[in-house]
Amino acid sequence: MELDKALDLIADVPDFPEPGVLFRDLSPLFADAAGFKAVTDALAATVDPGAELLAGVEARGFLLAAAVGYSLGLGVALIRKPGKLPRVAGRVGYTLEYGTATVELPEGVVEPGQRVAVLDDVLATGGTVAATCKLLEDVKVQVTGVSVVMELEALDGRSVLEGRRVEALRVC
Ligand code: PRP
Ligand code: HPA
Repeated sequence: MELDKALDLIADVPDFPEPGVLFRDLSPLFADAAGFKAVTDALAATVDPGAELLAGVEARGFLLAAAVGYSLGLGVALIRKPGKLPRVAGRVGYTLEYGTATVELPEGVVEPGQRVAVLDDVLATGGTVAATCKLLEDVKVQVTGVSVVMELEALDGRSVLEGRRVEALRVC
């Protein structure tokens, strides 16, 4: 399937999770075999060839990082929401478009100096990805870049990712 057609599978849902927010729902894209493959291949092409590991952000980022990791022969560092990990190497709090959140890095999955590419589904305010980059850099990992399926331009996520290589398959 063509990438544009795959990205058209993303549904716009008004007023979720609260009034005034237009939520981009990737569920139909993930459920479509050809669409998921097209997006996986396109995302894989955005990953820096020097990356040694991928970091996927819970939950939808896990799916993308797993698929791209399989395709590129790379492992995945699971960046988790709080309370899930038995051993936490670091945590960073941040603000979302709707609410606050924290991301945590498991112990024993990255090494100082390692080159890691960050993957997620949506770049909105950039808080999640910026926190993920900080989490990795706090333990001396080198973030090679950030790849997302969709960037919500109005929320200006790039402003908190200045100086980073940010690739989005679709900018809305
Ligand atoms: C969504 C999305 C990104 C983040 C983007 O995650 O998957 O991780 O928000 O927003 P930001 O750029 O403003 O930080 P959510 O917390 O809804 O998690 P989910 O994947 O578990 O549904
Ligand atoms: N869709 C999915 N995740 C999100 C969105 C969205 O519209 N905004 C912030 N995170």
